[in-house]
Amino acid sequence: MRRIVVLGSTGSIGRQTLDIVRAFPDEFDVVALAAGNNVELLLEQVAEFQPRYIWCNSPPVPLPKGTAMMSMEEMAVLPGVDQVMVALMGAVGLSPTLEALKSGKQVALSNKEPIVMAGAALKAAEAEHGGVILPVDSEPSAIWQCLQGEDNHIRRLMITASGGPFRRTPLEDLESVTPEQALQHPTWRMGDKITIDSATLMNKAFEVIESHWLFSVPWEDIAVVVHPQSTIHSMVEFDDGSVKAQMGPPSMRLPIQYALFYPQRFANAEIPRLDIGVPWSLDFEPLEPERFPCFDLAVSAGQMGGTAPTVLSAADEVAVAAFLQGKIGFTGIYRVVEQVLTEHDVQSHPDLDAITAADQWASARASEIAGLPAN
Ligand SMILES: NC(=O)c1ccc[n+]([C@@H]2O[C@H](COP(=O)([O-])OP(=O)(O)OC[C@H]3O[C@@H](n4cnc5c(N)ncnc54)[C@H](OP(=O)(O)O)[C@@H]3O)[C@@H](O)[C@H]2O)c1
Repeated sequence: MRRIVVLGSTGSIGRQTLDIVRAFPDEFDVVALAAGNNVELLLEQVAEFQPRYIWCNSPPVPLPKGTAMMSMEEMAVLPGVDQVMVALMGAVGLSPTLEALKSGKQVALSNKEPIVMAGAALKAAEAEHGGVILPVDSEPSAIWQCLQGEDNHIRRLMITASGGPFRRTPLEDLESVTPEQALQHPTWRMGDKITIDSATLMNKAFEVIESHWLFSVPWEDIAVVVHPQSTIHSMVEFDDGSVKAQMGPPSMRLPIQYALFYPQRFANAEIPRLDIGVPWSLDFEPLEPERFPCFDLAVSAGQMGGTAPTVLSAADEVAVAAFLQGKIGFTGIYRVVEQVLTEHDVQSHPDLDAITAADQWASARASEIAGLPAN
């Protein structure tokens, strides 16, 4: 039995993680569940999965029988726990992820912001303390799956992007797109923040940064190609010219289950299958930089390193929230992030305190620019 902790259990990835647990009830012991504000759903999950520890932003009164409140950092290091699923959204996942790695745990990491903002620190913790990051995000998971059994002769990573809902929208109309339109992703159903990041392609740049750190591949050897069907989740080209692609339906249950059971693969009726009994095609096209300015901005911040990607991630989190609240337009997301990055004095080799300080400064500055109250 695998003893697991799920941080962010009420979100899109968290709920799908518990769907996998539900499909294999004899394989998992859910030791702890953490959520933010959705106490009602957390309580339903507690009744079903009977964790011993819970976290949410305001504790339910009374606490469900047999449970105690515990911080996410404490959950991440619980003795006897085999795997910590970090399905949180944004920077809040950094500290529990780091703690889990420092205590030598397997971390199934869907929460991409921590690795964007502090990739070097997470990799150092992994190397020093024997913890391991298992990618859950579908593109890094695809690369990870392609690398199984290989001797690491990687020529290039090719990350696929659906292009989001505005791949064909006239450029002059982008300024006026609404949150409702931006939340209509053509192929994936996800939480709000990542859906907006997918529409700006900020999310794709985050995956480039993630892949650089996870697979130690130089920036110039990571390419992105638009693939509207989202059937190929990413590809790896090897030194001999051979290319391996990982394909599957656009369902996060597949990469979640792969990380939970790694390296085993089990049938699960809840995971849809590719239908090759109907005509189908795989299309590819180059990315249009003028349509997706966030992409180049974010990759440059990743390449600059130090506190630049921390500031990128923090400013983007605020800018997306401001867009969803109607404070700025869709193209304003780029402008807010660009201004905060421009104003920031990058620190080259930040320790955790410097990363935290950069994160807080960027959140406050982005809030000021976007007209949101500071946290
Ligand atoms: N969804 C996908 O298909 C997908 C695919 C690839 C990668 N990812 C990545 O996976 C991560 C999660 O994405 P998601 O779409 O599942 O997000 P989501 O639906 O917004 O869920 C986020 C989860 O984090 C919890 N949370 C947020 N702030 C918190 C806080 N301060 N303290 C404790 N819990 C907090 C939320 O709790 P409440 O809801 O209870 O407030 C919720 O359980 C993101 O980094 C995303 O980029 C997602």
